[in-house]
Amino acid sequence: MKKRIGIIGFGEMGKRHALEFYEATMGAVTVAGVVEPNDEMYENGCAWNNCDIPRYNTVAELLEKGKPDGIIITSPNFTHLSNLQLLNDFHGPIMVEKPLDTSAEKISDIVRFVKQHEGPVMVDHCMRYSPIIRRAREFIEKGRIGKVCSFQFTQRDSAGMYHNFRRTIKGGGSFMVEKATHDLDVMLFLTDAKPESVMMVSAMHGVGGNKSNDLTCSDCEERSTCRYAKESYVARGLKVNDVAKLNELCVFAECVDVPDNETCTIRLSNGIFGTYSHSYFVPAPGHSRVYEILGTEGCMYITLAKEGTYEGEIKLHPFNKELTTETYTFQYDSKIHYYAGPFLARHFLDLMEGKDTPFTTVPQAYTAEMLGFAAMKSASEESRWVKLNEIVPEDLRDSIVGN
Ligand SMILES: NC(=O)c1ccc[n+]([C@@H]2O[C@H](COP(=O)([O-])OP(=O)(O)OC[C@H]3O[C@@H](n4cnc5c(N)ncnc54)[C@H](O)[C@@H]3O)[C@@H](O)[C@H]2O)c1
Repeated sequence: MKKRIGIIGFGEMGKRHALEFYEATMGAVTVAGVVEPNDEMYENGCAWNNCDIPRYNTVAELLEKGKPDGIIITSPNFTHLSNLQLLNDFHGPIMVEKPLDTSAEKISDIVRFVKQHEGPVMVDHCMRYSPIIRRAREFIEKGRIGKVCSFQFTQRDSAGMYHNFRRTIKGGGSFMVEKATHDLDVMLFLTDAKPESVMMVSAMHGVGGNKSNDLTCSDCEERSTCRYAKESYVARGLKVNDVAKLNELCVFAECVDVPDNETCTIRLSNGIFGTYSHSYFVPAPGHSRVYEILGTEGCMYITLAKEGTYEGEIKLHPFNKELTTETYTFQYDSKIHYYAGPFLARHFLDLMEGKDTPFTTVPQAYTAEMLGFAAMKSASEESRWVKLNEIVPEDLRDSIVGN
């Protein structure tokens, strides 16, 4: 059955979802219309999709004239709550991009909204759909590494994300929420546990400074020598596998307040513990995301994108006399997010056809993001241990999920 989606925020992700939904469903999902305030972004999105897409000025107009069957919110992080609240009378499926929003208060309001809302709401925690992550979970469910005991998750990236709205906590929520929401969510998905407490150390080692907040790479006199300038990334031929960033705001601006180097220790239920670290000031080829999980009967290493190639690998080491290694490779066919998109698109079609319920839920995202906010609180209070219950409002304790 043909279905039509409305897209709020037709930027990088919005345009990519539009094409991916169309391709992955073999044309069953098309775009009813978009709300996009920026002319250039709108035109760029139409060009990407190779067709003219109806554009509306407001969400109300999109609903009334476009009559979409489902809605996708892909506007900047700090606009997610306000855009979701405009959908109170829309009862079809909604997908909100991660993170839910940019503060613990706002994401709590998202959970409250969804609790009273009639209609399915899911979050684009796309990594749960990725075949490599599903296979890792299957190994754990089948007991291949025994009882899960501990984990070590790392994420390494360059400063590219500091060229846009993500460079301030107000705009992006900070990378413990904006980026780590994926990793913390996968950690909870694989361990099947509930977060209890966290302690974190944070620093800014590469970005930040006293440049003007309006400065862009194109206007900067130092662009030919700056190691973080957008142009020099292109000139040096560094391959970017994630979304292309059209913005080129300076990473050394005064307003930059998002730490680029953080490590936290996390306690989960069932006695499981581990670490999550991320950094965004020096590229580390082959190490975009590497996850290690230890169990009583073996261990598993998941490399999400191997060096020099866009493919993933799981190395499974069962605890046996021969110390064998099983290696599994995953091709992503140039699709971002480790080939998760096509599965996500087909699932959203199922939701629009009333055949399924959300697989990546708002409580799951809330749990991962509140863990991120608890870590940020720890870092700002001399790295003391912070229990999740210190920051989760009493009425939302049941929205922290896990076993
Ligand atoms: N699931 C993932 O792995 C993943 C990956 C990348 C981005 N994202 C998320 O997608 C969202 C968008 O990121 P992006 O990289 O596409 O950013 P972007 O800046 O490229 O796109 C956002 C678009 O929203 C528009 N916009 C601004 N204010 C708006 C408003 N109030 N209402 C409607 N539109 C508005 C902007 O003009 C812009 O075109 C973010 O929340 C981001 O975290 C998720």
